[in-house]
Amino acid sequence: MSLQPGLSFSQAPPILVPFRFFLSAPLFGLLAALLMLWYGTSLMDSRWQPSVLALTHLMTLGFLGMAMVGAMMQMLPVVAGSPVAHPVGVARAVHVLLLPGVLLLAGGFLFGTHWPMRIAMFLLGSGFTVFVAAVGLSLKRAPPDSPTVVGMRFAVGALVVTAALGLTLASNYGWDWWLIERVRLINLHLTWGLLGWVGLLVVGVSYQVVPMFQLTPSYPKPLTRWLTAAIFALLLLWSVAQYLPDAVQEQAMLAVVSVAAIGFMVFAVVTLRLQLQRRRKQSDVTLLFWRFGMTCLLLALVLGVAGQVIPALDRMQGDNFALAFLFIAGFAVSVVNGMLYKIVPFLIWFHLQSLLMGVTKVPNMRQIMPEPGMRRQMWLHFAAVPLLVLSALWPPLIYPAALLFGTSMILLEVNLLYAFRVYQQNAKLATKGEPSST
Ligand code: HEM
Repeated sequence: MSLQPGLSFSQAPPILVPFRFFLSAPLFGLLAALLMLWYGTSLMDSRWQPSVLALTHLMTLGFLGMAMVGAMMQMLPVVAGSPVAHPVGVARAVHVLLLPGVLLLAGGFLFGTHWPMRIAMFLLGSGFTVFVAAVGLSLKRAPPDSPTVVGMRFAVGALVVTAALGLTLASNYGWDWWLIERVRLINLHLTWGLLGWVGLLVVGVSYQVVPMFQLTPSYPKPLTRWLTAAIFALLLLWSVAQYLPDAVQEQAMLAVVSVAAIGFMVFAVVTLRLQLQRRRKQSDVTLLFWRFGMTCLLLALVLGVAGQVIPALDRMQGDNFALAFLFIAGFAVSVVNGMLYKIVPFLIWFHLQSLLMGVTKVPNMRQIMPEPGMRRQMWLHFAAVPLLVLSALWPPLIYPAALLFGTSMILLEVNLLYAFRVYQQNAKLATKGEPSST
């Protein structure tokens, strides 16, 4: 495995720092699938139902949030040369706060009771505060000229906006004081969450990991210099446009959102083109996950903009369920899933490399994460996503879709646990009689 110049692996945190998050993520995906099976076709009645809000957050905060928080804590020292201070303590605290926080938020929506929601607010609020403070300090020290660092900074900024709006909205459920501004705040919250926190982090991280893991040429310089800043600025403009007088508001918001969509489209098309120019011609699971993810992103963007221009199309795709499934399950979950399949075996190989030096042979990446298991899981996911999207048009499809999605999440967990066991078994060889470094 050739290591990228400019990467500093010597400061990588102990393996459990990212792993506790990676191993939790698929369990939230599985809960989301169980919820879909339980509520079935009724989910499609309206997006404002508690069951839909619970499902949304099991996927966004549970699966995506866990994986993204873990990946950032791992990547900051490596790509930015600026580790998070006290990584073990920070990771433990953030994990212990966010994990029950997401469960209680989902439970609060589902059961409509005040206390779970209030405790969830406290846990999520403090979990994200610790995470943003720790990661923010590390990003402040990081070199300002790295496009990945810049993308991460904007993504963390968007997370702060998303979490603040989410907590304000959650207080409605915790204390029943229905906000007059509810719909506007929800639009702001979900746009900052999906396009800001998720979208900007994926874009920023891609600049580093696509060329590194998929052996493609680098992204074009003008794109890496401007795209994340431009999208962040557009999100700010779009937020201000929400408060313009009614006569101009709609056109202004449509214009801004269309330009932001074009920005993401350019990113998706450039990524797909770079992948065509990769040096190693045979395809692997990560590459296929990313291609699938980029295609879903393009479809989601086209559907989103078309829905704004042609209201009938918006109504047809059932309250934007198709769009949400395409963006969340099709784009974001696929990209994160694909990335886990590179980061996890690489991390284990890397940690074992230093532990086993001179003791025994280090297992290679394919032994750590065997290809057939990854492929099986990938095909289940690729089958689940189109069914999820189509269930917006024909709700009974939610049942097979949820079954496939849930099975894919179980297999993902199995694959990650397998790799982790390889690490533990080999680490035991190296540290016989010595205390473990994790
Ligand atoms: C501190 C973390 C968060 C909290 C407390 C929170 C809370 C909430 C609440 C209370 C609502 C419902 C508003 C209402 O019905 O009045 C909501 C909606 C929503 N949230 Fe969050 N949220 C958080 C993070 C996120 C993140 C990180 C994302 C995306 C990445 C996200 C995506 C969404 C979406 C898409 C909706 C709208 C769902 C729909 O229209 O059915 N949330 N959130």
